[in-house]
Amino acid sequence: MSERIIATDFKEEDQDIELKLRPDSFEGYIGQEKIKSNMKVFIQAAQQRGETLDHVLLYGQPGLGKTTLSGIIANQMRAKIKATSGPAIERAGDMAAVLNELNEGDILFIDEIHRLNRSIEEILYPAMEDYVLDIVIGKGPSAKSIRLELPKFTLIGATTRIGLLTAPLRDRFGVIHHLEPYAVEELIQILHRSARVLSVEMMEEGAAEIARRSRGTPRIANRLLKRVRDFAQVRYDGVITEDVAKQSLNLLEVDPMGLDALDKKMLRAIIEKFGGGPVGLDTLAASIDEECDTLEDVSEPYLLQIGFIQRTPRGRIVTELGRGHLRLSPG
Ligand SMILES: Nc1ncnc2c1ncn2[C@@H]1O[C@H](COP(=O)(O)OP(=O)(O)OP(=O)(O)O)[C@@H](O)[C@H]1O
Ligand SMILES: [Mg+2]
Repeated sequence: MSERIIATDFKEEDQDIELKLRPDSFEGYIGQEKIKSNMKVFIQAAQQRGETLDHVLLYGQPGLGKTTLSGIIANQMRAKIKATSGPAIERAGDMAAVLNELNEGDILFIDEIHRLNRSIEEILYPAMEDYVLDIVIGKGPSAKSIRLELPKFTLIGATTRIGLLTAPLRDRFGVIHHLEPYAVEELIQILHRSARVLSVEMMEEGAAEIARRSRGTPRIANRLLKRVRDFAQVRYDGVITEDVAKQSLNLLEVDPMGLDALDKKMLRAIIEKFGGGPVGLDTLAASIDEECDTLEDVSEPYLLQIGFIQRTPRGRIVTELGRGHLRLSPG
């Protein structure tokens, strides 16, 4: 995938840091207050009744904390978590095997659940609803269907593309939560927590500067923190001040609003080559010789979120806000 430092998807370089920085309880999980308070109630209610938790679907952009939250729910339920993903389950038999290995109260986490294919989904329906597994033995006219009882379990599904989930699957989740981008104040708290774990000294203003450039995404915030820490250590005296954060992030070409060179290239092309828009994403991508996917997955969601572009039926247009930012920070 892309090498952009502000990309939301998980990268090789995030590996060590994410494991260390991933909170394992609600106390360390900053923001998403409504989801947390709802989940705490559901968890407590299930525990008081001695039942398993309802199936939970978490959706939202990459890096907002879906996997992290699933782990916390499992910890809180004192449940074992078995993790797999949509693309990892290729055949119906794989799904049956995963279900068959579950014990009472376990949590089955399926990441990228929108990528399960239809025939595999159909195995999940009765499993989720009635805790049974219907398997067909043999082929043709002599084929027989047998029904196996499954222990009561909780399915937690995570997806970045709720729109790609089929309605029957979506409807079988008792709880559906949408994770939203984080406010700067929340990212500041996440950064302080991360700095403590990494034993880096960071001033309030330094944290604010990193937070403003993190595109509402904890994964990006932690990645930028790691890079700024290196600058602070090598070029300065190790402390992340506002100035150190600014200088390092400027060198990394992440601007004061978190835009990188490609975001700006995209904005500028809409203005200069297409009169400010509207222009379709394919045409735009071709005009600047970039992949449509990189624009669609990384640049567009953020530029829409901060109101720098708008989507119209005829394509994307740059807003006055977007133009103003380019004038201030041409980069
Ligand atoms: N609410 C939060 N509080 C503190 N840290 C968080 C929070 N949410 C996410 N993080 C941090 O961001 C990292 C990325 O989060 P996570 O892997 O849970 O995202 P995700 O939504 O599962 O992403 P993907 O769609 O790519 O799987 C975590 O390792 C954790 O360090
Ligand atoms: Mg994840």
